Amino acid sequence: MPTMKEKYMTRRRFVESASAAAALAAAGCSDNTNENTNSKKGDDGMEFTELIEVRRSVRRYAKSEISKDEMEKIVADALNAPSWKNSETTRYYAAVGAETKARMWKEALPSFNAANSADAAALVAVTFVPGESGFMGSDPADELGNMWGAYDCGLASSYFVLAAKNRGWDTLIMGIRDTAKVKAILGIPAVETLMSIIAVGKAAVKPVKVPRKPVAEVLKAI
Ligand SMILES: Cc1cc2nc3c(=O)[nH]c(=O)nc-3n(C[C@H](O)[C@H](O)[C@H](O)COP(=O)(O)O)c2cc1C
Repeated sequence: MPTMKEKYMTRRRFVESASAAAALAAAGCSDNTNENTNSKKGDDGMEFTELIEVRRSVRRYAKSEISKDEMEKIVADALNAPSWKNSETTRYYAAVGAETKARMWKEALPSFNAANSADAAALVAVTFVPGESGFMGSDPADELGNMWGAYDCGLASSYFVLAAKNRGWDTLIMGIRDTAKVKAILGIPAVETLMSIIAVGKAAVKPVKVPRKPVAEVLKAI
């Protein structure tokens, strides 16, 4: 038997999608929504509010391995991230083999990040292809230029770490790394801009939430 709240949510979803479809039709647009648009919980995932609370940077991992299929699922989820004109310039280079990871820890990461990510199942270098996001043809659309590529890459990385957590994997975004070494070890094209290395693994400790600023400090409603 559905609870009152479930009945209400079902009704609200129906009303919202019906009115959104009507508004889109009136505007001459197609409706590419589907029944799941407002669903609260996926088949195998967490509720969103819970997910953003439990996703924390993990700096101690238990030994684990990640399959190609599992990594592909996380990246497929991350591809839902918005990007400039849907340019999707973010790229992922996943070090999953023991030898490649060992080189990354030894040569490409400072000792504290190597220690923090030791025993992670993967070290994923996240890059973007410059000159596309934020560009009209070959000209930058505005003063930000390739910062839009970095913006999109940050959005994609957010989706990536949340998708990983949703699928049972913990992560650590590491901005401090040796760019030239990472590119050499992973064979990243010289033209791509390296952003971060994301460790993906199974937490060996329960991470503590670090405090956040009060909303009033970061939000001005004008
Ligand atoms: C762009 C970026 C770079 C970061 N670089 C590092 C890093 O090099 N080493 C590290 O231990 N944590 C790094 N972090 C993790 C942050 O310290 C962490 O996200 C922040 O303290 C908030 O904690 P939380 O992720 O647990 O919510 C980085 C995070 C971001 C977004």
